[in-house]
Amino acid sequence: MPLPILQTFHLNKFYHKPVEFQALKDITLEIHEGEFIAIVGPSGSGKSTLLYVLSTMDTDYTGEIYFAGELLKNKSARDLAQLRNEHIGFVFQFHYLLPEFTVLENVMLPALKLNHSLKQEIEKEALNILEMLNLSGIAYKKANQLSGGQQQRVAIARALINKPKIIMGDEPTGNLDSKNATLVYQIFRELNQKQGQTFLIVTHDNHFAAQADKIITLKDGCIIN
Ligand SMILES: Nc1ncnc2c1ncn2[C@@H]1O[C@H](COP(=O)(O)OP(=O)(O)OP(=O)(O)O)[C@@H](O)[C@H]1O
Ligand SMILES: [Mg+2]
Repeated sequence: MPLPILQTFHLNKFYHKPVEFQALKDITLEIHEGEFIAIVGPSGSGKSTLLYVLSTMDTDYTGEIYFAGELLKNKSARDLAQLRNEHIGFVFQFHYLLPEFTVLENVMLPALKLNHSLKQEIEKEALNILEMLNLSGIAYKKANQLSGGQQQRVAIARALINKPKIIMGDEPTGNLDSKNATLVYQIFRELNQKQGQTFLIVTHDNHFAAQADKIITLKDGCIIN
């Protein structure tokens, strides 16, 4: 079996304010390339906390995380930012689009930062992704002129532009109506099957979770399955 793309050993996470609180307890898990995984569990069980730590954005934890065999603890903040931009796509509850930039510019930005392709190629790819998400019609609108659901789909497009190895989502369809939620899940599955991208998605949608290859269930900061 190939190396897991993500692996944790005895991960613990404490929040210190307002009181000491352990949000993740002894999490040991393995995620392999090409897996499509749902993270479920009651509100407050630690799903977002786990995703934040796995995404390398939260480095305040104990235990070990390996990304493609490399221990993250050894990496500088700059190395982690580079790793995220290149290999991890995020869709979080708050999408942080740049309000004064167009949809197209927002989607192109991570690829411009990565600087692996020419601007024209990046633009073409961004337009393809927007079309796939039924967003071609708003490519030249500014992000602050969009509905919440449109913003969320633009954030999804932005997460896909660098063809990341792993895509993480925290309720990525939370603001969408059922038609658009289904579209997004279909696109995720298709990318997973055609390009072998790995998906790690927090969801309250049982129908979606039931279609995942694997379900990670959290309760009180522990994995219970
Ligand atoms: N910044 C923080 N400071 C202190 N406690 C926090 C912080 N963020 C989360 N917590 C606590 O950690 C626990 C896990 O929170 P988390 O946001 O990971 O839950 P969740 O499973 O994502 O819930 P939900 O389904 O409601 O989004 C909760 O008890 C929460 O109150
Ligand atoms: Mg959450």
